[in-house]
Amino acid sequence: MDLSRRSLLLAAGTALGSKAVAASGDAAALAEAMKAVRDAVPKAASDPARPVYHFHPPAQWHNDPNGTLFYKGWHHLFYQFNPYGSEWGHMHWGHARSRDLIGWEHLPIALAPSKDKGEEHVFSGGAILGPDGRPRVFYTSIGNRPPEQWLAEPLDDDLIAWKKSPANPVLSLQSHGPLVVNEWRDPFPFREAGVDYMVCGGNLRPSGGQGAVQLYRAENAVMTAWKHLGPVFIHPDRAIWNIECPNLFRLGNKWVLLLSPEGPTQYFVGELDLKQPRFLPERQGILDPGKSYASNISVDPAGRTLLWLWGKTDTPRDKGWNSVMALPRVLSLSDIGDLRQSPLAEITGLREAVRETPDITLADGSRAVASGDCLDFECVIDVAAPATAGIRVRGAEILFDPKPGTLRVGGVTGFAGAGKRVKLRVLLDKRVVEVYANDGAAAIFQTVDASNGPLDVEIFARGQAAFRSLRVWKMKPAPMDPGPFS
Ligand code: FRU
Repeated sequence: MDLSRRSLLLAAGTALGSKAVAASGDAAALAEAMKAVRDAVPKAASDPARPVYHFHPPAQWHNDPNGTLFYKGWHHLFYQFNPYGSEWGHMHWGHARSRDLIGWEHLPIALAPSKDKGEEHVFSGGAILGPDGRPRVFYTSIGNRPPEQWLAEPLDDDLIAWKKSPANPVLSLQSHGPLVVNEWRDPFPFREAGVDYMVCGGNLRPSGGQGAVQLYRAENAVMTAWKHLGPVFIHPDRAIWNIECPNLFRLGNKWVLLLSPEGPTQYFVGELDLKQPRFLPERQGILDPGKSYASNISVDPAGRTLLWLWGKTDTPRDKGWNSVMALPRVLSLSDIGDLRQSPLAEITGLREAVRETPDITLADGSRAVASGDCLDFECVIDVAAPATAGIRVRGAEILFDPKPGTLRVGGVTGFAGAGKRVKLRVLLDKRVVEVYANDGAAAIFQTVDASNGPLDVEIFARGQAAFRSLRVWKMKPAPMDPGPFS
């Protein structure tokens, strides 16, 4: 970005920011938080293990993607952000935007807790367009009181400055009447047949258990009044003690429910009966058995449904950063109604020259086929049980077992589909790796040891396996404009 635009944005951010937050008393809080992040940048930037083409904030800790939406030519990504440290705490909403889903521009922190209103944290939530066609965000306000759902609206089309609604809270626990909902949070708004709805997570037992998703309907066009319609989904597995970050949306001719049950994110595909109200699952599965969590979705102008996930990196505290966003994934349904997650086609824009390897057959052996810590790797493996085969990157084993059809990546197992052939895509980015099998039948986000370990990428077989169409690209860093954090 040229300097004049940057200073314009900065000035706009400051001016609008102070106007917006004058109303909510957050101006000083935002300025202080921005400074804390700026101060932390040199340390975070000096860690050679930090990923370079996965989105991440300028420094410090982040977790869930929030309020993801496409608006006026930009993909907006908000996220749970601790400006004050590289561990969880002081939740704000960080903000960035992208034109192409590859390069990102950091923007001023969007939401800070309004201490004067008893807010300690701005927890997760979602976005929707209001009756005037402009975005609104809903989030869980946490303070020294029960959780509440709050509404905020932007003061500019770049979504830089936000104003919290004077009508807050727009939803409180009282809306449930006698029903006791614990751990109530993470509103996700959606519109169906011209009516605005919202789901929130939580559970129905004081001691945990009966993870449940509650459904609400807006009672006015400006979405400041909501009515509880009932639990739209109660998790059939009673061992699931709680549900976080539910997303309920249409995909093709079905409805999809994503939820984060304090373990790997799950998906359910089925029908939604808004009258009962009940979500009726027909298929279900684990979205990603690896270290991703807390989904959100957005729909782009081409009509693609994009999945956003927090990618945990378990980074040591002294590094000044923690976590990335998993690469956005395009969601679709398979012929039998299972959820498919494919890496964005756009990511190939970061590929450098290709290195192609002639087909190789291995029998109880391994071979180095590439080297590097930022790679995009594709191959097809033909392997018949009882043989197994795979790839080793930075000490992590990616193993396909054809009989059950499992894909194992660094200790977790996904299901790629049984059969003698598997198509693999491996995206390695320093400390993290994402593995996709059979065009999104399995998707796994994992960490690898990015310290001094070997840089060789090896294919291996236990028994006999043939590796075909093997192509590897070195990946360029994604352009990340530091915006107000430079
Ligand atoms: C999920 C979650 C949400 C909550 C947020 C707080 O990771 O626990 O339920 O809103 O993170 O940061």
